[in-house]
Amino acid sequence: MSSTIDFEPGVTELSTSETLPGQLSEVVRQSLPKHVAIIMDGNGRWAQNKGMPRVIGHKAGVKAVRRIVSVASQLGIESLTLFAFSSENWRRPDKEVTLLMELFFNVLQREIKRLDKNQVKLNIIGDISRFSSRLQSQIIKAQEQTQHNTGLVLNVAANYGGRWDIAQAVQKLAEKVESGEINSSQLTEAAINQHLCMQNQSEVDLMIRTGGDYRISNFILWQAAYAELVFTETLWPDFDEKAFHHSLAIFASRQRRFGLTGSQIEEIQAL
Ligand code: IPE
Ligand code: IPE
Ligand code: MG
Repeated sequence: MSSTIDFEPGVTELSTSETLPGQLSEVVRQSLPKHVAIIMDGNGRWAQNKGMPRVIGHKAGVKAVRRIVSVASQLGIESLTLFAFSSENWRRPDKEVTLLMELFFNVLQREIKRLDKNQVKLNIIGDISRFSSRLQSQIIKAQEQTQHNTGLVLNVAANYGGRWDIAQAVQKLAEKVESGEINSSQLTEAAINQHLCMQNQSEVDLMIRTGGDYRISNFILWQAAYAELVFTETLWPDFDEKAFHHSLAIFASRQRRFGLTGSQIEEIQAL
């Protein structure tokens, strides 16, 4: 764990031993979430605030992705799930959608070696069938190349919608009922869970949304059922290590009760 992780040399050239002490308190480090999900919002406004076209904001957003992947990886967080393109984002102007697709393709092509070298396992979640065949092949190639990696699991949500995810899980189960493999009484919460994206990963503990809006925008609906929510005004391209640490500190300060009372939780913790 002491090796340098070079996701973006010069910007995030941080070794674990240099980064952690003093920046994250021991309390926060002892209470890190296993699974963090982020709605990376605010790219367009970031660029527009600077009098630049929105696409510049998306490009700056990619740099923020590199930074946060690097930090999450060094902290030993198990899974990081990033909302990159929603099933509703097709409604944007054609030009912006085309640019986003192009950017996605280029980033996959350019970053995969570095992700692989840093033991990151890439997993694209969403309905990729709507993407061009060129992009689909790139996605499959990138996933295959990193599938045996044992470090951070990086889920990138692309053409993803929380409702789609639940519907596709139910559809798979319905097919099993139809074929007689299971009966309808086996269509339980646990069964649905097993057919959702990210079914083998830890539950989402912390969900962050940048960009100042207070909504979920059809991101992971089922998986975030008990996630702690952190909303920040910071626009995604400005979300840096310090901002991430701040969100982790907020997470560490929360009491997760899962339906119990505060005193019950204290009793359990005292055991
Ligand atoms: C998030 O930033 C990135 C995508 C949805 C692709 P936006 O593009 O939504 O930025 P704002 O919200 O318009 O500022
Ligand atoms: C959510 O951002 C989707 C992504 C971050 C990819 P949007 O900017 O599309 O969300 P809404 O439409 O404002 O809720
Ligand atoms: Mg937005």
